[in-house]
Amino acid sequence: MPNRAHRPARLRLWPVVVLLVLAILSGCASTRSPNFQPAVASAHPLATEVGLDTLANGGNAFDAAVATAAVLGVVEPYSAGIGGGGFWLLQSSDGRTVFVDAREKAPSQAHATMYLDANGDVHPDKLSVNGPLAAGIPGQAAAFAHISNHYGRLPLSTTLGGAIAAANDGFAVDEHYRTLAQWRRAVLARYPAARRVYLRNGEVPETGTVLRQPALAGTLTELANHGFDGFYRGQVATRLIEDVTAAGGLWTEDDLAAYRVIERTPITIDYGPYRIWSAPPPSSGGIAMAQMFGMMTARPLTTLTNTGLLSNDNQPESPSAGTARLHYLTELMRRAYHDRALYLGDPDFTDVPVSRLLDASYLTRQAGTIRSARATPSDALEGDFSAGTHTTHLSVLDQDGNRVSATLSINLPFGSGFLSAQTGVLLNNEMDDFSIKPGTPNAYGLVGGEANKVEPGKRPLSSMSPTLMQGPERSAIIGTPGGSRIITMVYLGLLDLMSGESAANVVSAPRFHHQYLPDVIQHEPGFLEGELGDELTKLGHSLTDVGRAYGNMQLIVIDHQTGQTEAASDPRGIGRATVVTGQ
Ligand code: DON
Repeated sequence: MPNRAHRPARLRLWPVVVLLVLAILSGCASTRSPNFQPAVASAHPLATEVGLDTLANGGNAFDAAVATAAVLGVVEPYSAGIGGGGFWLLQSSDGRTVFVDAREKAPSQAHATMYLDANGDVHPDKLSVNGPLAAGIPGQAAAFAHISNHYGRLPLSTTLGGAIAAANDGFAVDEHYRTLAQWRRAVLARYPAARRVYLRNGEVPETGTVLRQPALAGTLTELANHGFDGFYRGQVATRLIEDVTAAGGLWTEDDLAAYRVIERTPITIDYGPYRIWSAPPPSSGGIAMAQMFGMMTARPLTTLTNTGLLSNDNQPESPSAGTARLHYLTELMRRAYHDRALYLGDPDFTDVPVSRLLDASYLTRQAGTIRSARATPSDALEGDFSAGTHTTHLSVLDQDGNRVSATLSINLPFGSGFLSAQTGVLLNNEMDDFSIKPGTPNAYGLVGGEANKVEPGKRPLSSMSPTLMQGPERSAIIGTPGGSRIITMVYLGLLDLMSGESAANVVSAPRFHHQYLPDVIQHEPGFLEGELGDELTKLGHSLTDVGRAYGNMQLIVIDHQTGQTEAASDPRGIGRATVVTGQ
């Protein structure tokens, strides 16, 4: 073995020189571990492509996430856009994790009874769903500016280039667009600008029709050139308020100028060897998942099956292991969604009892009420309300290991259906995520109370749950749209990941869901049929086939041993997941 210490100095130095040159060439002289195979998974191929280009052109995961999200807002007008908001979970390669809350805010003139008629009943026009009254003050543009300024490497003018081009050049209508536009056709036809841009002669455009959005391109250009002020102040803001006011909306220029994203601490969950980061209030996702994992720790499935009541071994009549697991998971979901309905809302307005809800002894008590061989009727859980594949997701990993999981929304397909003609901004209908009347279900059948009532400047409670997981063997970037079912989709996805499933299997696995009320297990067609369904019914569960597949999960999985990245886009959608190999 040659003695390294006695090598000529010139030879000893060359690796250092090479490393230094490489570091300078890549624009970063700090330590990097270029061990990651970058990947982008998003709900649309064009958006994924722009995200990958951004990485290839020197952007980091945060730039790529902004670029991808901006394109999604153009080519998926039914999902998310600068007229909406979202949640971004960012993790830098040194492990720092931050949650950017870009949720819409109720305008200053909003009030608790704004969606009720003179009798106190929900207004028959569904004002919280259709038209400009349904829209909260958007956060998406502020998120782009904030993330780009604070975490990106590239200027917003570069990052938004792909979205501006897509809005100017147009995109081709596909079957997915047609399905969602059909769903909202009547409301889109009601508003002249929406009718002109998204429909043809009042009808859903044929597949292949190219839809251009020049007004939106202009607004994105203002945002690209002037950052926050380009959207929330100045000519875009003035025109937006003109259009919204003329159509009967309540927004003011002050509401726009006062909008701010909020950086919050994510909810962290430790479950066995896994650490999970997810969305804090005003999302309900992180708390609900923390509760479900906490109850699993307090009372693992095996402690129920070991009673014999759920075990297959000694009781021929007892349900199968598969049924036992489904029963158990359903009961966890029911309890978490019960607390969601009762206690969760915008933490800046309502006192969310986070530590009590996540307290180990509370979760042990809650788990203790799970009966081994019988469903718990939801109305038997304490508390009452007398007092009170739209939406999108993207997951990004860059070569340094920076990660983004972002779920973005305008709520229902095409949001409120109202398009501002002058700015090309399609308004969200996120106000429907508030509890518009205690105990009255929203579009997702969710009920809520005081904690989530409408108040000026407040953020509506959300289920969006962008999530990161770190395990001993693999880590993951995961999320999906799907309204109230987002939380259970991500939760079931995490359980599958912990069982070692591949990314492709996780995103395509059949789905079921329980949300406390309505007191039914909702499931995708073809799942929970036959013996499994019969056994669950015998345990006292009611089953509802929701009639169509749901969710659009975008997942990236990193294998720590092999250094390989795996990415998968939900086969239920039209998205694309690409791993960059051979760098
Ligand atoms: O924030 C929420 O919980 C909802 N506005 C999300 C809507 C959604 O995921 C629609 N997707 N299919």
